Amino acid sequence: MAQVLLDVLRGLKTDRTPLWLMRQAGRYLPEYRDVRGQAGNFMNLCFTPKYAAEVTLQPIRRFGFDGAIIFSDILVVPHALGRSVRVEDGVGPLLEPISSASELGQAKPGEVKARLAPVYEAISQVKAALPKETTLIGFCGAPWTVATYLAEGRGSPDQRAAKLWAYRAPEDFAQLMNILVDASCEHLAAQVAAGAEVVQIFDTWAGALATDGSFERWCIEPTQALVQAFRKRCPTTPVIGFPRGAGQRLGAYTKATGVTAVSVEGTLALDDARRLCGPQIVLQGNLDPLALVAGGGALTGSVEAIRKQVQGGHIFNLGHGILPDTPIAHVEQLVRLVRS
Ligand code: CP3
Repeated sequence: MAQVLLDVLRGLKTDRTPLWLMRQAGRYLPEYRDVRGQAGNFMNLCFTPKYAAEVTLQPIRRFGFDGAIIFSDILVVPHALGRSVRVEDGVGPLLEPISSASELGQAKPGEVKARLAPVYEAISQVKAALPKETTLIGFCGAPWTVATYLAEGRGSPDQRAAKLWAYRAPEDFAQLMNILVDASCEHLAAQVAAGAEVVQIFDTWAGALATDGSFERWCIEPTQALVQAFRKRCPTTPVIGFPRGAGQRLGAYTKATGVTAVSVEGTLALDDARRLCGPQIVLQGNLDPLALVAGGGALTGSVEAIRKQVQGGHIFNLGHGILPDTPIAHVEQLVRLVRS
């Protein structure tokens, strides 16, 4: 059977719009909370293939989404580079902060693949269990966003530590970007080798970068280097970029990086995204996660507003990750709306 998500990314006409949701495996699902409890902690959930595979499949069983994103995290790359990473309940990710690229150090050849072997094993298990029409999505964080967590040691409202590092020591920060580009490329290619059919690059904090050249240097350039290196290894695998908050800069991002598709945040109209990116690019998004929490008429209205705008290839998704307090009935309502 054809894969509607893959077909749209290949530029083919399809009889319906593919649908999946960022962070579709997670705390809004009771069956996720069960497995999360069994795993004990978040990194153990990520690195135990049978658990990671199970929570990847849960939203597919429940909702029949067209894409399954492997359950993992963008912070497994710093882990592979030897940093300690944990995720604390109610706090989020915690890492040992670094302030120079030498503290991270280039990965030795094969090291990323060896340290992240459980992720690839989980991908193979998911692939074997997935319905044939469901597309398996691998991912990584963009170098800039991963760097914000490495510099701060945790999430931060203003990405202060990474921005100061980049302003004060741009050569050293560029070195950090290079290390992350290489490790991320290794990780994406290994996910494809294990069975991922599409990859997405999450640049959650792209919008924090200033218009003084920072956006070009720390969002666009490292992503361009990553996409080019990845394409050498996996020339036919579609790449979805998600420079969240790029706004008007989405056009420059898509043109320079050469991504196949872009995921669009809820605050940029899809019409504007189309105008900025041109007719070829596939657009993904951009439902407000809070419209999904609200449900009912608000959700119907938001879905209609998206439908009115889309011209060209479109993948239905949220503008950012699904929120833990999202009612399951509203996700079911969304599936009915998008499929009707
Ligand atoms: O989409 C999916 O279902 C696949 C799994 C996935 C997770 N994180 C699982 C997760 C994906 C694609 C990510 C990406 C990710 N991780 C991003 C980029 C996307 C985004 O949402 O902006 C970022 C910035 C991270 C870093 C990270 N990991 C944060 C900020 C947090 C804490 C936030 C939170 O929701 O609690 C995590 C932990 C995390 N990663 C959870 C999940 C389901 C929650 C942990 C738990 O179950 O307790």
